[in-house]
Amino acid sequence: MYNLYVNTKETKSTINRNIYGHFAEHLGRCIYEGIFVGEDSPIPNTKGIRNDVAEALRNIKIPVLRWPGGCFADEYHWKDGIGPKENRKKMVNTHWGGVVEDNSFGTHEFYELCQQIGCEPYINGNVGSGTVQEMAEWVEYMTFDGLSPMSQLRQENGQEKPWRMKYFGVGNENWGCGGNMRPEFYADLYRQFATYVRNFSGNKVYKIGCGANGFDYNWTEQVMKIAGRYMDAITLHHYTLPTGNWQKKGVATGFEDAEYYSTMVNCLKMDELISNHTQIMNKYDPEHRVGLIVDEWGTWFDVEPGTNPGFLYQQNTMRDAMVAAVTLNIFNQYSDRVVMANIAQTVNVLQAVILTEGAKMVLTPTYHVFDMYKAHHDATLVHSHVNAEKIEEYNIPSLSVSASVNQAGELNITAANLSMHKAAPVVCEVAGMNANAASGRILTGPVGAHNTFEAPNTVKLADLQDVKLEGGKLSFNVPPNSIVLATVR
Ligand code: AHR
Repeated sequence: MYNLYVNTKETKSTINRNIYGHFAEHLGRCIYEGIFVGEDSPIPNTKGIRNDVAEALRNIKIPVLRWPGGCFADEYHWKDGIGPKENRKKMVNTHWGGVVEDNSFGTHEFYELCQQIGCEPYINGNVGSGTVQEMAEWVEYMTFDGLSPMSQLRQENGQEKPWRMKYFGVGNENWGCGGNMRPEFYADLYRQFATYVRNFSGNKVYKIGCGANGFDYNWTEQVMKIAGRYMDAITLHHYTLPTGNWQKKGVATGFEDAEYYSTMVNCLKMDELISNHTQIMNKYDPEHRVGLIVDEWGTWFDVEPGTNPGFLYQQNTMRDAMVAAVTLNIFNQYSDRVVMANIAQTVNVLQAVILTEGAKMVLTPTYHVFDMYKAHHDATLVHSHVNAEKIEEYNIPSLSVSASVNQAGELNITAANLSMHKAAPVVCEVAGMNANAASGRILTGPVGAHNTFEAPNTVKLADLQDVKLEGGKLSFNVPPNSIVLATVR
């Protein structure tokens, strides 16, 4: 028996719905084919954007979408992606597979996508190979409402009124693909570039500085010290590899039990990472003015056999769903600092929520986690404590939990059972509310279970059968490697 205690009156922080954000890069078949097929495609689309994919993304209410990269961002020159399509530059996507990038998806198409799926754009600017002027002009192009060369250019390209642009990243992974910089050098460059990211016409830009690669605490230390006061948020990237070895990461399907557990061990490192990076941030920003944005996270496996190694295409199983559930529970717990997170990457790349093959589309187990966890969007995190057993062999907890209360006063508890063999029967004392009814949803299956184009519904959400409310106590069962949402009203 697992005793869970939740107190709805012990409120903590607001779970920013941007924690449930996504990331779409010009990489492999994410943007092209996965999201954008062009207006002339036989695949049903609206202004070139796939209708099936847009609808699926709307359904999980994705709040914010990061674009155009990733490493691609620091090689992207935005002026190549505007104006008549036939005149747009064709170039090589040097970083990702060496394929032709025809720039048919650019700023206007990205805004169209965000409008169709109802999310905020998060644009990542180019520090690595761009100029201060180029970045300043992009911001002017998108947001200036008066008379200026860039606003005129935008109008000539068919967009009369400026767009709203809140989230802007000043460089990506500048410690690596974004220029191999030292933190001191990047911090100075950040100060210079960010100065010219102007607030035009009532648009207020939320400026995001490039943060650390995983455990590189010195990066956070230096960047916060030198440039922290000029930014609204700093980022963190952490990918989950089953082996922890970039040369041989491990397979996406058909893995051994031990590899499932090592994946969970590596994904749980997110807790330690956030805790340590925020301690450094606290030194330079005790008021918690600067947010932490985990704008790249998720599983990274060896690519599917026979696919372009530069396309990062991988299948997605119940193991991925567990990684998503556990990581999102961690973000919820740190929502006093973590203001946004963006899983990598939306369609056909890394831990995608959607896979496509021609006109076919499949929702992955990870998609269903995002569907369930919508319950936490903008809700208030409340105190929860569970006496979960440890999985001794791997020294990890067997149950991951978070609880929040939404604006309608409903309590939502998400619980993921990391054990492959042992069920977690939960009895929950709910303090602080008069509970009248309970219901739930469940995502369950063997850790290797996944959806394919031939069998797209092998893993899907179902109603939770054994959720009960008796004598003020909530009880439900979380079977091995399952994720449950219990709602109390
Ligand atoms: O998400 C794939 C790549 O991982 C991104 O382009 C880069 O920022 C990171 O290294």
